[in-house]
Amino acid sequence: MPATILPEPFVTNGHKSVANGHSANDFALSCNTCTNGNKITVHFQDGEFTFHSQWLHDSRCDGPLGAARNAATAISTQPPETLRITHAEIGKNGARDAVEVAWDNGDSSAFPVEWLRVMAPIVALLPHGETAPKPSDMNKGWTLHTLDIPEVSYKDIFADNIQQERMNDLMLTILDHLLLPTSPGLVRVVDLPPPNVEDELNHVNNLNTILLKKIFGSVFMHPARGADKSFNVSSRAVEAEKRKELPNYDTNQVLLPHADHAFYEQPIQVQGWYILEGESENTWVSMPAALETLKEEAPDSYHALCNTPLALGRVSAFYGQSVFQMTVDTAVSMVPGTDVFKRIRWHPNFIGSLLCPYNEYKEARLAQQKFLEIMRRPTHQLKVHLKAGDMFVWDNFRVLHGRERVFSTPRTGVGQTVSEQVVHDKWRSLCIGMLAGVIDEQWFVHLPMQQLRELVRLVRK
Ligand SMILES: [Fe+2]
Repeated sequence: MPATILPEPFVTNGHKSVANGHSANDFALSCNTCTNGNKITVHFQDGEFTFHSQWLHDSRCDGPLGAARNAATAISTQPPETLRITHAEIGKNGARDAVEVAWDNGDSSAFPVEWLRVMAPIVALLPHGETAPKPSDMNKGWTLHTLDIPEVSYKDIFADNIQQERMNDLMLTILDHLLLPTSPGLVRVVDLPPPNVEDELNHVNNLNTILLKKIFGSVFMHPARGADKSFNVSSRAVEAEKRKELPNYDTNQVLLPHADHAFYEQPIQVQGWYILEGESENTWVSMPAALETLKEEAPDSYHALCNTPLALGRVSAFYGQSVFQMTVDTAVSMVPGTDVFKRIRWHPNFIGSLLCPYNEYKEARLAQQKFLEIMRRPTHQLKVHLKAGDMFVWDNFRVLHGRERVFSTPRTGVGQTVSEQVVHDKWRSLCIGMLAGVIDEQWFVHLPMQQLRELVRLVRK
């Protein structure tokens, strides 16, 4: 197995003792290798974590290969025996403090200490062999008692002569409002210019298309509607006629809380909604909060809702040639390997039957009914009287939207969406851009999004 090239600082500073290994900013104070070399304990400023020697070797991102692997270095091609650490100390990776590690096969790596710290809660042991608590408490969502809707200024986003760095900060703030587990996932857009009504009705040059493209780079590409075209929900006859197979649209009936694209294999993540004309009472509901209530009040129902597959489908007759779409999924998706909520897939108009064994059906059906009852409680369902010129943007994975009533017509709402991949590409690239020149970008390749965001926070403190 070829050895990686030792980073220069590791060679030149490689004899600092562990006891004297204080880093410049004291972020990581020292590290100890266990006697048989199969783990190291790193003492950070805010606690100590123990890392598996083989995990460190698997996750290294420096050296000639960076984050990539080849036939000789891929995990699946290596011998099953654990590589042992022969030496570890606090040193440097470029200008940054690093935990320098050498293994008994000749490989070595210099882990940026902040990188190691953000990964620690996922993979490392706490003192006394405990596993770090999982971050489920971060994601409780909001009720009406706790909600404070952030406002984003359209004028700020399109301000002339703004420095790129300030614009990046603004963009990251907006993305954080929408996507951070601790954020509401819902923003109000203010300072909007007057709309071009004709364009808005014709699905082109829409204010929310322009806004979402500025933030994310592109919007959802609908195969029949075409690029950069919005969708309208309108009481105007031609629109209402197109949607005649959807009985809840454009009437005074309730449109129950739902996620758009619930019936897509890959639902869109971010959605913008602009009221062009008319007035209505629209609703939003935080899914982490509704699920938390269900979990507290009816644990069996919570388990059933999270684990029972259901069928969701629709036919869209108004696209010339009808579009038939359906998918099978659980209503709730978790971050893999955790009980941390990731995405809701829910649209009562399009939910078909439950796909569960006979003996589980009754509980699974009851779970859906309890879940709907909870999300429509006054504590959980935000109701906003929307008028022409109002715009909201939200995370379609965490916040459901609906409509309780229409106050005045003609009423037209203009919608635009952004796919999950585009949203995450933007969030990652913004964070990586802020770490440029600080930590080598190879270290970000396998870094989960929440850890990448936390790394930006740590480095910019
Ligand atoms: Fe919708």
